[in-house]
Amino acid sequence: MAKRSISDLDVAGKTVLVRVDFNVPLDGDRITDDRRIRMALPTIQTILAGGGRAILMSHLGRPTGEPSDSQFSLAPVAKRLAELLGQDVSFATDVVGEDARSKVAALRGGEGGVLLLENLRFHPGEKKGDSEFAHALAGMADAYCNDAFGTSHRTDASMFAVPQAMDNRPKVVGLLVAKEIQYLSDVLQNPARPFVAIVGGKKVSDKILVIKNLLTICDSVLIGGAMAYTFSLAKGEKVGKSFVEPDRVDLAKELLAVGGDKLVLPVDTHCGDDFSSDCNKQVVAAGEVPDEMEGLDIGPETATQYADLVRNAKTVVWNGPMGVFELPPFDAGTRAVAEAIAESDAVSIIGGGDSAAAIEQLGFADRVTHVSTGGGASLAMLEGKRFEAVDVLDDA
Ligand code: 3PG
Repeated sequence: MAKRSISDLDVAGKTVLVRVDFNVPLDGDRITDDRRIRMALPTIQTILAGGGRAILMSHLGRPTGEPSDSQFSLAPVAKRLAELLGQDVSFATDVVGEDARSKVAALRGGEGGVLLLENLRFHPGEKKGDSEFAHALAGMADAYCNDAFGTSHRTDASMFAVPQAMDNRPKVVGLLVAKEIQYLSDVLQNPARPFVAIVGGKKVSDKILVIKNLLTICDSVLIGGAMAYTFSLAKGEKVGKSFVEPDRVDLAKELLAVGGDKLVLPVDTHCGDDFSSDCNKQVVAAGEVPDEMEGLDIGPETATQYADLVRNAKTVVWNGPMGVFELPPFDAGTRAVAEAIAESDAVSIIGGGDSAAAIEQLGFADRVTHVSTGGGASLAMLEGKRFEAVDVLDDA
């Protein structure tokens, strides 16, 4: 069911409480990748252009110790957002405390147009889904908007209890969430074929449900990354010192049985005798990793085979690197797959996290159909899950 969108709302003179995902990587107080902030701009600009005001709320990281540990403060994000918007952004140093209340009051009085609250996870009510906390947030605004795709698989207070606490006030979907869900559900429900999925990463355990679901939809599911060695182990092959999950071997066997020819495994492996760029290296047939070596990337023959399958595809979904991308030359497999996707005419969706970072770093982000801002959220969609945080919003 389509959801009511922020662009369908008359926001003139209204205050909209917007849940965004500003969980961005930081080096000190320097934002190393501001993509999630940039992707939230259309919703904020829609509210401002309509004569409304925006109260933005987000989490940052997973603070566990001192509740307001400054390394998790959203203050650098407020600064960057102001630069990107080209206007002042007011910043509250708490979430529902005195500073937030007075800045919300100033905003409602017409001052500025954008306020960012401090990290939601500085308040214990956020992770608990606490109703009192949710009502305090909901009480700040005339409408609620979810534009936090990266967090849409969560039911934290700001994602679920807050829209519930809005009662009859509008609760709508933001432009980023609408776009992300549209892209991912379109390819999963009605893909142009051949539909090829590439699933990489370290652990089979993180991707079991994704692989299972994709095997029911795709024409081929290509496996890369360290998870390939757990499949090798399941086939009784030699994995040397490669990373494996022995307790997932039975699951790997199950996937091999269900997958049949659709589940494509590497034919060769680039290994090293140490986890470093200057280790001794060797390319071996998959399943023949010498005892003293570990697999660190798919081999060149696999890279060529995967790139060919991508070139012939009409739809490609990619989640997870093919090898140790940050350790050249073991970035070659990931690079080959990224290049093939960038060159192909297929509809291409890059799941967030490491593969999104890889495609950005390689400069191919503008040559693919869509790069998701969600890591866990895009995995959840590929697993075929629904989002309660979206279901709770008004229908269109
Ligand atoms: C993410 O980076 O995947 C989202 O911001 C969600 O963060 P979380 O896994 O800490 O809830």
